[in-house]
Amino acid sequence: MKVPFIDLKRFEYGFLEKWESKIFELSKNANFIGGPEVSKLEESLKSWTQTNYAVSCANGTDAIQLALRAVGVGKGDHVLIPDSTFWATFEAVVNVGAIPSTIDVDLSDGGIEIEALKEGIKELNPKAVIIAHLYGWGSAKIKEIRNICVEKGITLVEDGAQCFGAEVDGESIYKGAYISTTSFYPAKVLGAAGDAGAVFTNDVEIARRIRMYSNHGRKDHYSYEDVGFNSRMDTFQAAFLNLSLEYLPDRIKARVNAVAQYNDILSTNGITQIVAPRNFKENGYCNVCLVPEEHKKTIQARFTEAGIGFGNIYPSAMSEQECSPKYQNARFGGNNSILLGKTVFNLPLFPYMAKEEVDTSAQLLIDTINSL
Ligand SMILES: Cc1ncc(COP(=O)(O)O)c(C=O)c1O
Repeated sequence: MKVPFIDLKRFEYGFLEKWESKIFELSKNANFIGGPEVSKLEESLKSWTQTNYAVSCANGTDAIQLALRAVGVGKGDHVLIPDSTFWATFEAVVNVGAIPSTIDVDLSDGGIEIEALKEGIKELNPKAVIIAHLYGWGSAKIKEIRNICVEKGITLVEDGAQCFGAEVDGESIYKGAYISTTSFYPAKVLGAAGDAGAVFTNDVEIARRIRMYSNHGRKDHYSYEDVGFNSRMDTFQAAFLNLSLEYLPDRIKARVNAVAQYNDILSTNGITQIVAPRNFKENGYCNVCLVPEEHKKTIQARFTEAGIGFGNIYPSAMSEQECSPKYQNARFGGNNSILLGKTVFNLPLFPYMAKEEVDTSAQLLIDTINSL
């Protein structure tokens, strides 16, 4: 049996027909930018994230840049980011003119190391810290991280590209954030039919600034408060997301069922995984196995041979990129991020996976490791 790493085409019965008629209706009325679909989406996002303001934008990378600009991070400011995250987190800091330094990660949950964070704050007095909630949950110490930043007067930006629908202590993970972002890249838990993203906050002025920067820095149609950029979400993406939200609880349920099935099989067969901390209700975004470094290539080859997809989220740290020294100021903590890159191996995970697909994928990993 072949299993894709992710199957974006497994739509619910009737979904594509509804989408087809939505495209027709929007096109017939030439409704392409803004309009009721975007407003409806922002209202729904507010309620999903339990935040006061949700501003849609063009993608998750812009969302981080908008958040940084809205809180006043700019030229020459120091920003601490995790050493293990998607490159967009690093990129966003550089693109606003600020200077990134990395914090090592905690291998128990993939969040940042608290001691390394404290060291970075002491040494650099950064203007902002960005944390990334990877894999469908957040750091077990999320509240401690938020408190440290509040106490030190440092803005904490939470990159929530991978955690839409996840909860901490019974509340949306975005609710307790000062400012947070997400991506609706198609492979995300809530994915668009292209690129899209959003920023969430409870602060009215921050929300106003995000909207202003995402629409050319406009005050009025032809007068400008500042130089912004065009990062509007287009109407088709909003419409696709509105439709997808109707199905999201079922999709998350299906993902989380697959996670539970993986946990049953993998934990009884001695496979190491990073799993969601106890205080989180995850969204089932991704499976994270840690395999012996020396066998990773062989394991990948066996999966390719068997036609079973796998992921590598992420194979190397921010500080390891060839171009990083050009931009990066410092690196705090040890080498967990580098080790994580060398050992991480993600099994297929997507909504409506068949039980047999989960079993086959998990069993291939177990058999391969046992044979080496
Ligand atoms: C952690 C993280 N941050 C930022 C992004 C960037 O989002 P986008 O691809 O929508 O720009 C992604 C998504 O790929 C991500 O996973």
